[in-house]
Amino acid sequence: MKKIVISTGGGDAPGLNAVIFAVVHACYKRGWEVYGSRDGYGGFLDLDDMVRLTPKDVAEIYSQGGTILGSTNKGNPFSLPVENLAGEIQVVDISDKIMRNFSRMGFHCHIAIGGDGSLEIAHRFAEKGMQVIGVPKTIDNDLEETERTFGFDTAVSTATEALDKLHSTAKSHNRVMVVEVMGRDSGWIALYSGISGGADVILIPEIPFDMDEVCAKINDNELHGKHYSIVVVAEGAVTQDGAAFNKGTGELGRQEVVLGGVGEYVASEIRKRTDKDTRSLVLGHLQRGGSPTTFDRLLALRFGAAAVRMVEEGIFDHMVALVNSKMVPVPITSAIRNRKKVSLDSDKMQTAEDIGICFGHSSG
Ligand code: F6P
Repeated sequence: MKKIVISTGGGDAPGLNAVIFAVVHACYKRGWEVYGSRDGYGGFLDLDDMVRLTPKDVAEIYSQGGTILGSTNKGNPFSLPVENLAGEIQVVDISDKIMRNFSRMGFHCHIAIGGDGSLEIAHRFAEKGMQVIGVPKTIDNDLEETERTFGFDTAVSTATEALDKLHSTAKSHNRVMVVEVMGRDSGWIALYSGISGGADVILIPEIPFDMDEVCAKINDNELHGKHYSIVVVAEGAVTQDGAAFNKGTGELGRQEVVLGGVGEYVASEIRKRTDKDTRSLVLGHLQRGGSPTTFDRLLALRFGAAAVRMVEEGIFDHMVALVNSKMVPVPITSAIRNRKKVSLDSDKMQTAEDIGICFGHSSG
């Protein structure tokens, strides 16, 4: 009988619960026990937060958003900032304690569900001797070695639905609507939702943009009798002249300080440079909420079941990946080496160009 522990790390993504569901069922079928660590590594530090999971505990969760294991953003156990008695912040390494509790609990393997940050931590535990398997989670779809991460399809569906709705209001008021979507420094969500949601302009980090080109597209729409435009901006998009946007802190970029983020910058430039009434909105965490789409559910269930097969086969320090429609183990280190960017020679990019979407790039 093996004892398996699962944790969810980083921001939530629709499909986390479906992975947990599959792991619990696949282990139960093999006569193994499953435990869930609450709040990331919380269960390793306080055993009251280590919860036994049986099929009855996970009934129905495959279709629910969020994670039953609680908040997932509790910091890096290898360098955790904690306040000492004098009220000062000190960075401590609590990884040895986690290793001790892993052994004390008699765990055979840790299935870590996470994005690049959580998988890097999982790999560091593997280096300390913990048997670890990774499951790729992020709405950003920016993990290398896997064609998809779960959560991405749901985020794209949410963004596309929002764009569909914005068309009618933009058209009614002859406005430009600028929609900022998530994705960190990759443009996957912007590209997929922008194409599917009828965007006129899509700005992605992979193609630094020129406001002249963006405004030329809006003016061209106007000239051809389309008096409204939809602009999708990835949160990590940057201008060709290197202006940086730091949402939240408003820190000085090379040329601009933009408190509202890149979406608000683009909207304000459109307002200044064209006669168009322009509004902007940030879709934000809506993209992380709600039930996983059928695609994400199925992918997450497949990832969970495949992770358990990897336990059986003894393949550790690997992440389960979707490669050519199959579940394939890949070394965690290669999955986290770089963030996966949109490939500019893909058919999706070609399609977008063919249907007249502007990416805001100029040759000069
Ligand atoms: O990585 C997922 C993601 O949703 C990014 O798209 C976004 O930049 C970030 O997390 C937001 O993080 P937080 O929930 O900490 O605001």
